[in-house]
Amino acid sequence: MSRIVVTGRIPEAGLDVLRRAGEVWAWDADEPIPDDVRDRQLATADAAVTLLTDRVDDAFLAAGPGLRVVANVAVGYNNIDVAACRERGVVVTNTPGVLTDATADLAMALTLMVTRRLGEGERLIRAGTPWQWGMFMMLGSGLQGRQLGVIGMGAIGEALADRARAFGMTIAYHNRRAVDAATEERLGARLVGLHELLETSDVVSLNCPYSDATHHLIDAAALDRMQETAFLVNTARGPIVDEAALATALRDGRIAGAALDVFEHEPDVHPDLLGLDNVVLVPHLGSATIETRSAMAELAARNVVEILAGREPLTPVSA
Ligand code: GLV
Repeated sequence: MSRIVVTGRIPEAGLDVLRRAGEVWAWDADEPIPDDVRDRQLATADAAVTLLTDRVDDAFLAAGPGLRVVANVAVGYNNIDVAACRERGVVVTNTPGVLTDATADLAMALTLMVTRRLGEGERLIRAGTPWQWGMFMMLGSGLQGRQLGVIGMGAIGEALADRARAFGMTIAYHNRRAVDAATEERLGARLVGLHELLETSDVVSLNCPYSDATHHLIDAAALDRMQETAFLVNTARGPIVDEAALATALRDGRIAGAALDVFEHEPDVHPDLLGLDNVVLVPHLGSATIETRSAMAELAARNVVEILAGREPLTPVSA
């Protein structure tokens, strides 16, 4: 019977599928699994189901010499050394598709939060600060007729663009390649260079994977290109943004605001961001709906089932 190790808590929907495929051992606590416990379990494992907080590197793979698959319960897989897995014949899978809507919803919500100053408003009331409706109180920026610049036009970028269109925004995007003509037409989207996107967008949204190529894509120079009235939204991965440079730009009013779901040194947040009113900070909630997390766990589990049965995985990573 195959042995499947799950390195953190996942929804029952995933565990149910896994239990039909083999003997399941799952770490069942909210804190991260200690390395020694993990390594003991991996020693006899055929499959590992991992979270984005796990680092799947040489040490992980060496601890699990019998591993045939690492199924990440996330669409992003920058936590996994895919080349090292491939060298050892370990298949890597992720969970694209099932979290597209939830993540696009969050990116839209963050866009509204930061442009309408909702976090600031919440803090004001919760602090017990006296207030009265006022014509000029806490004015934000509208989205109608404004340009959303999407960096990384994959499924989530497209779904965000669909939402932004419903709010009256126009769409520019930067991507390795153009999306198909029908999608461009539906979104009224135009492919532009990174500089043009930064210089002309009212909201810049990061929806690209994190890799060496996108490390600090948004650095001081990129922030300098943005308009003083523009906002940055990051629901992708923290290290795409140079957080220190962002804090400086926000403090100096170089850009109008930012909304971050992900952080460069997660779960730490750059201390200079914490005191700024023009930044919205939420704790990596992109896919955090009950339905989505169940669907992610189930998809990861089904990938394990396929591999252990000697079939092709449903969603292998492409890198
Ligand atoms: C979440 O960040 C994911 O990559 O699924």
